[in-house]
Formats: sequence, C-alpha cells, structure tokens
Amino acid sequence: MEHLDSRLTILLLLLSVIPFSTQKTTVTWCVMSNAEEQKCLDLAGNATLRKVRGTLLCVRGLHSRDCMEKIKNGTADAASMFVDDIYAAGLCYGLELAAGESRNGVDGVSYYVVALARRSSSDLSLLEMHERSSCHPGIRTTVGWTVPIGYLVNTSQISVGEQCNFPRAVGDFFGYSCVPGVQDTQHDPRGTNPKNLCEACIGDDNDRHICANNPRERHFGEAGALRCVAENLGDVAFVKHTTVFDNIDGRNQESWALDLELEDLKLLCPDGTEAGLEEHERCHLAAVPADGVVVRMDDKCRVWKFLERLQNVFGNATEGFSLFSSVGYGEADVLFSDSTHHLLRVLGSYSSWLGPTYTTALQAFECEGFC
Ligand SMILES: *[C@@H]1O[C@H](CO)[C@@H](O)[C@H](O)[C@H]1NC(C)=O
Ligand SMILES: *[C@@H]1O[C@H](CO)[C@@H](O)[C@H](O)[C@H]1NC(C)=O
Ligand SMILES: *[C@@H]1O[C@H](CO)[C@@H](O)[C@H](O)[C@H]1NC(C)=O
Ligand SMILES: *[C@@H]1O[C@H](CO)[C@@H](O)[C@H](O)[C@H]1NC(C)=O
Repeated sequence: MEHLDSRLTILLLLLSVIPFSTQKTTVTWCVMSNAEEQKCLDLAGNATLRKVRGTLLCVRGLHSRDCMEKIKNGTADAASMFVDDIYAAGLCYGLELAAGESRNGVDGVSYYVVALARRSSSDLSLLEMHERSSCHPGIRTTVGWTVPIGYLVNTSQISVGEQCNFPRAVGDFFGYSCVPGVQDTQHDPRGTNPKNLCEACIGDDNDRHICANNPRERHFGEAGALRCVAENLGDVAFVKHTTVFDNIDGRNQESWALDLELEDLKLLCPDGTEAGLEEHERCHLAAVPADGVVVRMDDKCRVWKFLERLQNVFGNATEGFSLFSSVGYGEADVLFSDSTHHLLRVLGSYSSWLGPTYTTALQAFECEGFC
C-alpha cells in the first residue's frame, strides 16, 4: 500500500511537471508589416537551426489593434509595440509586457521630453505659460503634443472642459504657436482649429506650406521646433533631450543651426525652475520608455524565458542573424529598435514600464475615449 502510494505520488508529480515542460513551447508572434514578417521568419529559422528550445511562429496582423485582439483571444501570443500602443494594449485589452528594450543596458528610457528656451528669456516659467509662444514638432506627436499638453492639463494651466477640444484649449492658452499639421483635415475636419496655432510657423522659402505636417514647413519636427526658438519666434520648444546635440557642431548645415550656441539655451523644468542643457535627467516633462513585447498576463513568464534564450544566442551576434539589427529588411527598427542594447524582463505591470510621467501625460487625454 505504501509502495503504491509513493508510486502514485511520483506519477502525480510527473503529471504535474510534464505538462509544464512540454506545454505549448510555441510562441506565435503577431507581425504588422512585410519587413517584420521576414525578420520573424528569419529568426524562427535561425532559432531552429541553433536548437533554441521552443518554436517561433509568425502570423500577420493588420495593425496594432488587430494584434492586440489576436493576443487577447489566443490567436497570437506576442507582438512588439510602440509605447502609445502599449498603453492601449494594457488599458483596452488587459494585456501586459513580457519584456522591454533597454538602450543603455540599465533602464528602459528611450528619451526625455524637455522644454527648451533661450537663456535670454527671463521671467519664463513652465508653470506660467499663459500667453507665451510655443514651438511643437507636430500635432499628435508624443514629443510635441501628448507630453507638453498633458503636462499643462496636469498642472491645471489648460482645461479642455466637457467638449474635450484640445486644439481650442491650447489655442486659447498660448499667445501664438507652431503646431505643424493642426489645420490638416485629418486633425481639423471642421476647419475650426485656432489660427494662432500656426502663427509661429514659417513654411518654405516661398512662404508656402505654412503649418504643413512635413519638412517643407521649416519649423516642422524636432529640429524645426528648435529653430523656431533659436530664431526667436517661440519662447519655448518641446523637443527631445538629444535634439540640440543632434543639430550642433556641423551636424546640421543650415545657417540657423551653424549659428546656434549652446550657452544661449536652457531647459525649463516642470517645477517652474530652469536648468542647463545637460540636466535633462532631473529637468524633463516626461521620461518616454522604449518599446516592448506585449503578451497575455498569464503568459509573461513563458514568453520572457523564450525571449531570453533568443537574445542569449542572437542578441550580440556579430555574424549571421542578429536580433537588434534590421539590415536587409528595407527599413529601420524592425521587430526591435536597432539601438537596443538588450531586452529587460518586465516584472511589474505595463504601467510600471510606462512610468509615472508618461502615464500622467496620456491620462490627460482620457476624455477623447482612448479604447
Ligand atoms: C537566418 O537569418 C538570415 C538573415 O540574417 C537569413 O538570410 C537566413 O535565411 C536565416 N536562416 C534560416 C534557416 O532561416
Ligand atoms: C481573434 O481575433 C482576430 C482579430 O480580431 C480575429 O480575426 C479572429 O477571428 C479571432 N479568433 C478567435 C478564435 O476568436
Ligand atoms: C552583449 O554583450 C555585452 C557585453 O558583454 C553585455 O553587457 C550585453 O548584455 C550583451 N547583450 C545581450 C543581448 O546579451
Ligand atoms: C501632476 O500634477 C500633480 C499635482 O499638481 C503633481 O503632483 C504631479 O507631479 C504632476 N505629474 C506630472 C507628471 O507632472
């Protein structure tokens, strides 16, 4: 009897272990483009070749929301997503993150959004921006819209009221601005967005394409927003912490950039103080996290283990297939960003990855009905 008992115990133990080790070791990746699909297939083939435990399958999704739906209903297990999609995946589909990219090998910050001003602009405080002029890389961009407008809402400087009309509230708030694209039909279907949101824009050499959502507007993008402040049209520009450094020392040959002097610029901090250009780690509007791998909550561990095995073999590859290279796929940042150092395991919830400053900015847009 005792003998039988212990055999039964062993059997039960085996039964409880076997299903785990042979349990679906297949990870189905939802890919959203031809380039992603090709890299996924190459990864799968090379993983099999190198005898990495587990099988990678690639299924085609139409767009990020389609992949979220597929992961939720089990048709897929994982997908690489941008930060704003990670927020939607968590909030609207109850999904989580198995891993996130690290650029520096330490944390998951992709970049900081900073507020840049001329050093000569005294009496300028981020807590008192009413009637000031502002330069934004573009409408609906993380750097130029979501983060700065989210900050102004959170600090109660802007209120959108029940209409939830952000362009109107922003136009009422600033004296004049350049928000490229704000009058495009896509963002202004009724043509009612305030005119002053384009008054710090300059268009091209022939005064055409004013406020266009492309580089023909010379104040478009992060470099354009920097130019807008450098040329004294705006009091403040919302840019990345790297923007200034990407445009000095001859890296940008346009005359406004060649004239740029680092000592003429400063950062405005969210607490109303100011700081030097290098102090972005303590003086920023938001730390925007890097992209991550979206999964079902109960699948976090399994997918992470698989990713860990993949990056051990292909993460630092100097020849053959390389996980963090997109050479040969016709575009940059395929499946993972090319600047990824390695993938970090995300143990906490998706919002811990997104971080408090970025999450606060997104929450300010709640009335737009995100899901
Ligand atoms: C391995 O990856 C390379 C691209 O890096 C690709 O050309 C090759 O076909 C892949 N091998 C297999 C077996 O899929
Ligand atoms: C899962 O969701 C996808 C995307 O919406 C859909 O095409 C597919 O039919 C769904 N599958 C199941 C089994 O519900
Ligand atoms: C690649 O190698 C470096 C240096 O040994 C190490 O710090 C890093 O974590 C490795 N990356 C991956 C993805 O394994
Ligand atoms: C949002 O506002 C609250 C209260 O004013 C403040 O404590 C918090 O730090 C703000 N968050 C961000 C990200 O600015």
